[in-house]
Amino acid sequence: MEVRKFFFKNKELVRLDGVYDPQEDSILLTNAVKVRKETKALDIGCGTGIQSVNMALQGANVLAADINDAALRNTKITAETFGVEKLVKTRKSDLFSNIKKDEKFDFIVFNPPYVPSTKIKYTELDGGKKGRIILDKFINEFAGHLNEKGVCYFLQSSLNGIKNTEEKLEKQNLKFEIVAKQRIFFEEIIVFKATKK
Ligand SMILES: C[S@@+](CC[C@H](N)C(=O)[O-])C[C@H]1O[C@@H](n2cnc3c(N)ncnc32)[C@H](O)[C@@H]1O
Repeated sequence: MEVRKFFFKNKELVRLDGVYDPQEDSILLTNAVKVRKETKALDIGCGTGIQSVNMALQGANVLAADINDAALRNTKITAETFGVEKLVKTRKSDLFSNIKKDEKFDFIVFNPPYVPSTKIKYTELDGGKKGRIILDKFINEFAGHLNEKGVCYFLQSSLNGIKNTEEKLEKQNLKFEIVAKQRIFFEEIIVFKATKK
């Protein structure tokens, strides 16, 4: 099995073959996400588990979900490396498909595959038309799994259209703000924070 390594909080971690290699977007999101101890958090699209571990280190109980089995295995390894394996559970799920209707969270975090593409071949990267296929499904569904005072953090690129996201959040009757931004060559990556009104 091919493995590559990366650093997070000065620890060198493995990345299993086929799992998203954490990039500037992963780090921008970890820096923006603030959770409280003993709360319930959901990390959709956990990849290596970087977002899950970031929340578990802040004391949250995390459910890490992904459609990719290798990502779930990788997240377990990452949680063990950081000594937070008791706080991180994994579950295979296509977005919220395997999250029960009445299962609610205090925090939901998602760094989606947002690269504009003609088809979805690489599920860790490809976002389909305008990079919005997975992003829009997520925006339509996450509020149903947020507690009344819950907070959702998610990331996107300026290439996906910021106004488009704002309109969709408004349609879901959510409050939102942009809490982090970073320019990377020809695009800007952005972290939205959304809550119920
Ligand atoms: C850009 S990577 C982010 C990985 C990691 N959270 C990070 O911040 O580095 C997107 C992740 O979403 C997962 N993913 C893609 N489509 C998904 C879906 N429909 N449901 C759940 N996870 C999905 C991919 O397997 C991948 O792990």
